[in-house]
Amino acid sequence: MNRIRIEAGAPYDVLVGDGLLGEAGARMKELLPPCRAVLVTDSNVAPLYAAGVEASMTEAGFTVTRYVFPAGEASKTMETLTGILTALASTGLTRSDLVVALGGGVTGDMAGLAAALYLRGVRYVQLPTTLLAAVDSSVGGKTAIDFAGRKNLVGAFYQPGLVLCDPGTFQTLSPEIIRDGLSESIKYGVICDEALFARFESDPAPDMTEIVTRCVEIKGDIVAQDEHDTGLRQLLNFGHTPGHAIEACSHYGISHGHAVAIGMLLMARAATAAGICKDDTARRLETVLRKTGLPTVAPYAPAQLAAAALADKKRRGGSITLVVPKQMGACVLHTVPVAELERFFASGMEVRA
Ligand SMILES: NC(=O)c1ccc[n+]([C@@H]2O[C@H](COP(=O)([O-])OP(=O)(O)OC[C@H]3O[C@@H](n4cnc5c(N)ncnc54)[C@H](O)[C@@H]3O)[C@@H](O)[C@H]2O)c1
Ligand SMILES: [Zn+2]
Repeated sequence: MNRIRIEAGAPYDVLVGDGLLGEAGARMKELLPPCRAVLVTDSNVAPLYAAGVEASMTEAGFTVTRYVFPAGEASKTMETLTGILTALASTGLTRSDLVVALGGGVTGDMAGLAAALYLRGVRYVQLPTTLLAAVDSSVGGKTAIDFAGRKNLVGAFYQPGLVLCDPGTFQTLSPEIIRDGLSESIKYGVICDEALFARFESDPAPDMTEIVTRCVEIKGDIVAQDEHDTGLRQLLNFGHTPGHAIEACSHYGISHGHAVAIGMLLMARAATAAGICKDDTARRLETVLRKTGLPTVAPYAPAQLAAAALADKKRRGGSITLVVPKQMGACVLHTVPVAELERFFASGMEVRA
């Protein structure tokens, strides 16, 4: 088992290792004395893992109530948030009690927001069960629901007290959902760790505990320096400006990780064309994405992608800040005037032999 310390406002540990779900109760007891807890999970994860977590928590002395919502992004709403808050209230949860999020990013984001709001903040523990939640959403304290037709519009920065990741849970994920998480994991390599990227190049089945651990270390380092996302944390958005545009153009038919894969390659190629990237990052990235089964070609025109990107919330004034590789393992921020975004995207989309 690996332990990573996240030095956010209130520091906390992320533990990564097979079998951790079965030790959940004992691990939580190291954080706080046994208390009441509401276990928030979705309708897919509940039948697979909820009983095991509850048994482990009960054995450790916790009194657990389960709250299950219908699986999927469509549930990431005010209604579900209200349902979770109602469950916390009717259980009589106090400030010394606990919220536990068992599931993917949808569960973690909503349970985290409910924990931030209820009594102005109760402790919560993340038990991520998707690769994406393990390497991305469960660490860093961003919580949210979708609102007014926009993703993650209403939320809070609120750090968990503990994250327990059991990569054994990834065995029940569909290949597509695994690939979504692999795309974000490959992203960390391109942003700041060539050795991590090289593992995806050389190892046909990289060890998930090692991959998650390294990605969490990287995200933790970045979050520690920029908890509230005003600078460095933007690096984590590598591939995301075109990626979000692709998701939007597809009406969310193309999943996040798949769209980010296309977006990363587009940015690497555009950075190469602009002379910012001087090595063969784009070629290496394309090879790894193909090998992983991730898409590499945007099925939309540069003008469509630019229009969608400019409608996105991250735009500031007359320019847009993009994340581009300088070389493999070293990304930088690069500001482009809004009027040039379409051309920049186009330069990353030219078909190369
Ligand atoms: N907070 C952040 O910093 C952050 C970062 C990235 C993404 N996100 C959010 O995360 C969400 C996407 O996360 P996700 O892909 O984990 O979505 P998700 O929670 O919907 O999980 C994907 C699917 O896998 C199922 N599932 C989860 N674990 C399983 C398991 N072990 N076995 C079988 N099925 C399982 C779920 O029921 C769901 O159907 C988005 O809402 C996104 O906005 C947040
Ligand atoms: Zn992402």
